[in-house]
Amino acid sequence: MKTQTTQKADLDWKDLPFGYIKTDFNIRYHYKDGAWSKGELTSDATVKMHIADPCLHYGQEAFEGMKAFETKDGRIVVFRPIENAKRLQVSSDRILVPRIPVEMFLEGIQKVVAANARFVPPYNTGASLYIRPVVFGVGAQIGLGPAKEYEFIILVTPVGPYYKGGFKPVKALIVDEYDRAAPLGMGAYKVGANYAAGLLGYEYAHQQGYPIALYLDPKEKKYIDEFGTSNFIGIAGNKYITPKSSSILPSITNDSLAIMAADMGMVVEKRPIDVEELKNFDEVGAVGTAAVITPIASIQYKDRAFTFGDGATAGPVSTKLYEKLTKIQTGEIDDTFGWLEEIKA
Ligand code: PLP
Ligand code: COI
Repeated sequence: MKTQTTQKADLDWKDLPFGYIKTDFNIRYHYKDGAWSKGELTSDATVKMHIADPCLHYGQEAFEGMKAFETKDGRIVVFRPIENAKRLQVSSDRILVPRIPVEMFLEGIQKVVAANARFVPPYNTGASLYIRPVVFGVGAQIGLGPAKEYEFIILVTPVGPYYKGGFKPVKALIVDEYDRAAPLGMGAYKVGANYAAGLLGYEYAHQQGYPIALYLDPKEKKYIDEFGTSNFIGIAGNKYITPKSSSILPSITNDSLAIMAADMGMVVEKRPIDVEELKNFDEVGAVGTAAVITPIASIQYKDRAFTFGDGATAGPVSTKLYEKLTKIQTGEIDDTFGWLEEIKA
């Protein structure tokens, strides 16, 4: 879809926060009697809820996050939405939400992004349109059990960088006072409950001056799991190393970066990473849709600090990966991996 003719919304595109800005439409589907309804675009940004909706009481909710970009040649593209559709099905299975068909998910993305084309940040602003699908159980009930009805909504909002300053190193704190996931729990699924479990750790880190919290595996507290908002990657020489763990979210950004790293001739290792290995890394990054690659300056663990590079500037490998990823997303270099889905008019 070409946007050169679209009159863009009047926003300060180069200075957007990672926050909510009301756009023109969201799209909604309702599940009842075993079937999903047709999607309806609405400009109402509120939902009317029943006081006994089970999502409110028992947290039956899952969500996704991805981004749309305007490319150099004026198209609107979404980065790997099929992967998000599949991951939402995996999350849904874990909390007994009926699966959303991949085609329905993609149709919803097409319609809601096209309807909000004026909110897709212009090319070269560094901003993007964040797409947040969310599914939750509704229909009054009070006993514990899966809901009988569900609401699936896709909202969009233009965003800037998640961590202040964009591609600038931040300090992380290993929070081992509180777990965000359990060994056979829900850490590998994108459900709201994980984020509620991480709020206290987030607050604890923030109060001590660390913008980002890093968690260890919940069983042994010995291996690196992930950040509260994103996956962990470590660069050691020519190696791209990322944790293998059953309590972390399988990040689509991490998967993409690992593919790019291998393509650049790096050795990719997905394995348990002992916290003691932190001293071996030249660079560490927090990677995800919102975080993109946020370079990590240092990691505080109890009374020890591990510093990466000079602790002030992003390392060369992270920089190369960041540039390559963002250039693919904005069509500045060829999408040789076939990751972009174009929004049709
Ligand atoms: N880990 C957590 C806890 C996240 O919230 C996210 C963000 O979605 C990620 C990892 C990164 O996943 P993705 O790259 O698919 O956005
Ligand atoms: C994302 O990166 O899409 C997320 O959902 C992370 C969230 C903390 C904003």
